[in-house]
Amino acid sequence: MPPESNGSRPTASRDYLGSADPTERERRAESFGASAAAYAAFRPSYPEAAVRWALEPVAGDDVVRVLDLAAGTGKLTEVIRGLGMEAVAVEPDAAMLTELSRRLPDVPAFTGTAEEIPAPDGAFDAVVVGQAFHWFDRDRALAEIARVLRPGGVLAALWNLHDDGVAWVAGLNAAAQALGSVRETRESPMRQELFEHVAFADQASAEFGFHERRTSEQVVGMLGTHSRILVMDEVDRTQVLARVRGYLRARPETSTGEFDVPLVTIALRAVRV
Ligand SMILES: C[S@@+](CC[C@H](N)C(=O)[O-])C[C@H]1O[C@@H](n2cnc3c(N)ncnc32)[C@H](O)[C@@H]1O
Repeated sequence: MPPESNGSRPTASRDYLGSADPTERERRAESFGASAAAYAAFRPSYPEAAVRWALEPVAGDDVVRVLDLAAGTGKLTEVIRGLGMEAVAVEPDAAMLTELSRRLPDVPAFTGTAEEIPAPDGAFDAVVVGQAFHWFDRDRALAEIARVLRPGGVLAALWNLHDDGVAWVAGLNAAAQALGSVRETRESPMRQELFEHVAFADQASAEFGFHERRTSEQVVGMLGTHSRILVMDEVDRTQVLARVRGYLRARPETSTGEFDVPLVTIALRAVRV
């Protein structure tokens, strides 16, 4: 999506991350393990259609070896496995990795980063990145991803965003001040440049709308796993989440029981030359 110029992190995403401060970025990139169980419980999965589209360039192969890079608790890994492909997970955070292995015990899972991937050259047909490419040092990560992909392999990055084209979701974004905007992400010119690198060609993008059923408490729980909220001090976090809870109780769409949360997966892919 959406990078900006930011010293050694040239592709940080201002519209998605809401901050260009490198210290805050680092704290946020490392914040997820503190809520690993909640992350697994409350964050959305990825629609199968989006993952199929992402992996289309290698889908004809008999065996497709996919690296889920920055795999977190394994949300994307699980969809890849559901498509009958071989999945390997790499993730720097120990708590996230533990959660992944608890949920998907037979997936090979390794500690590592996008900038130093623990795998040999040409080991994978595809590298997928869910909700994490914006945390990478883009140039180092692209060179490293190119190294572990075979020629003709595919790199894909996916992001789930709440569809703020829906009025109550736009209000939720305002109350939480922590969610990426689909419109801004769509319009970001930087999105087109994300995979610009000598080792990659044929960049393409697509969007996939979907819904997940949630209660208001689950939405509050999901928001509590967003990095901007995770790095807040206790008082601020409690205040923001109380404001969100109040908002959801007041809206007719979300005040009782389960409701559909409208989401959009934005997917980018490019082929290793
Ligand atoms: C929002 S979570 C996404 C997790 C998972 N891919 C998903 O879709 O649910 C972002 C993940 O990126 C990881 N991460 C942050 N910086 C990274 C880096 N430089 N290399 C690899 N992973 C990184 C974090 O530890 C975290 O698990």
